[in-house]
Amino acid sequence: MKGKLQIIFIIGIILAPLLLFADQNKGAKEMLLFGGNKGDVVFPHYMHQSLLEDCNKCHNLFPKTKGSIEKLKANKKLKIKQVMKQCRNCHKANKRAGKKAGPTGCKACHSK
Ligand code: HEC
Ligand code: HEC
Ligand code: HEC
Repeated sequence: MKGKLQIIFIIGIILAPLLLFADQNKGAKEMLLFGGNKGDVVFPHYMHQSLLEDCNKCHNLFPKTKGSIEKLKANKKLKIKQVMKQCRNCHKANKRAGKKAGPTGCKACHSK
């Protein structure tokens, strides 16, 4: 009996870090971002995560919490359209380089 418990305990110690890693909060799969008078922006979050791998390609500007962009803009810690420029600049650079790229025209991102 004691031997069995020890084995379970050891397996637990080995698996715990793996479970923690798998449990990283990746947020919403898709989200609607506030886009002012041009209308909201549908943003495929997971698609970018698997495409870009590095979370900080975006999260260098804002933390991984819902509503953080609008909060930082309200507190003047982020300029209006600063995040948008980061999105668009990457799409533009990829387009120029002849690689797969996201939309660059206003209406391709915004709903109005
Ligand atoms: C291409 C840009 C981009 C990349 C790359 C990215 N994110 Fe995000 N993420 C966003 C945006 C935009 C938001 C929304 C912030 C807001 O609501 O103001 C967000 C929000 C989040 C949130 C909180 C919102 C929610 O739905 O729960 C989590 C958690 C998150 N991201 C995790 C990650 C992780 C983990 C990675 C890397 C594996 C990652 N993100 C990569 C753009 C990105
Ligand atoms: C790649 C997608 C994308 C493209 C292309 C794009 N936008 Fe945006 N836009 C966003 C995102 C995301 C936000 C919200 C984050 C921010 O303010 O940086 C935003 C925010 C805005 C806002 C609201 C700012 C505020 O807080 O009031 C306006 C206005 C706007 N964009 C206008 C435009 C115009 C005009 C164009 C074309 C020249 C354009 N956008 C092209 C994604 C895009
Ligand atoms: C570092 C580069 C990079 C950044 C930053 C980035 N994107 Fe993209 N995005 C891409 C690439 C590459 C694609 C094209 C993927 C494909 O066609 O397979 C794409 C595609 C898209 C698409 C089209 C999806 C579809 O189904 O065709 C949208 C919408 C989009 N991005 C919005 C955004 C918004 C909004 C942001 C900022 C919050 C952003 N992107 C930030 C690289 C980026």
